[in-house]
Amino acid sequence: MTSQPTPSPPAPLLDVELVTLFPEIFDSFLRASLLGKDIDGGIVGVNSTNPRDFSRGRHRQVDDSPYGGGPGMILCPEPVAAAIEAAEAERGRAHRLLLSPSGRLFDQALAAELAGRGRLMFICGRYEGLDERIADLFADEVVSIGDYVLAGGEMAAAVIIEAVARLVPGVLGCEASTVEESFSAGRLEYPQWTRPPTFRGLAVPEILLSGNHAQVAKWRRLESLRRTEARRPELLARHPLTADETMLVQGGPTKRRRRPPSEK
Ligand code: 6GU
Repeated sequence: MTSQPTPSPPAPLLDVELVTLFPEIFDSFLRASLLGKDIDGGIVGVNSTNPRDFSRGRHRQVDDSPYGGGPGMILCPEPVAAAIEAAEAERGRAHRLLLSPSGRLFDQALAAELAGRGRLMFICGRYEGLDERIADLFADEVVSIGDYVLAGGEMAAAVIIEAVARLVPGVLGCEASTVEESFSAGRLEYPQWTRPPTFRGLAVPEILLSGNHAQVAKWRRLESLRRTEARRPELLARHPLTADETMLVQGGPTKRRRRPPSEK
């Protein structure tokens, strides 16, 4: 009897390389929710490399004081470079993202772009910063997740990984919802309800119980615009109303539900 060739498991559709001094930050996050199943199923692959394993000296120091003076410590370039190079020597070149509050702002469009790249490396800084030569020599892009300062890049990397992973075909259980998202760029999602029809005196908007799908769709588009106007007016400035939406808005006074305080 001839032996059957063992089929090798399919290569992951998204391969993540973490370069971090604190790999344990990712453990529960990666095991939980949608990523855990995908990691077991081989859809998302994750490896981490710790610069501390490449530090020299008895104290395994990876940081030093900044040239020119100032507060805090700076992550040294050598152990970070060595970690990046070791990971890639082992598993191949990745698209390298350096996480920093001084980076380009991460958004859904960048998430979609990254989802197509296959292998992503997240280089996480700590302390007051990372020696600039790591950005100069290694970063394909420098990315921030918002206008606030975190103690390190790890949580930012986790945010980006979750946003990207759910866009990789086969990762998300319900693909229709990403299709819908892409149609509503620059608009906040419309609100949603489920049973019971009345909860603590608040009733679900009647239109949603009507079974009139065309009316429901129209109502949702209007709610989406109203919510965007109330909470994120700058999105409307950047993505002006389409001719269709202008008609919708001018289409007469559709009955509005009572605003909860969060939208006032
Ligand atoms: Cl990517 N890193 C840090 N340390 N803080 C941030 C950030 C990144 N994005 C927003 N704040």
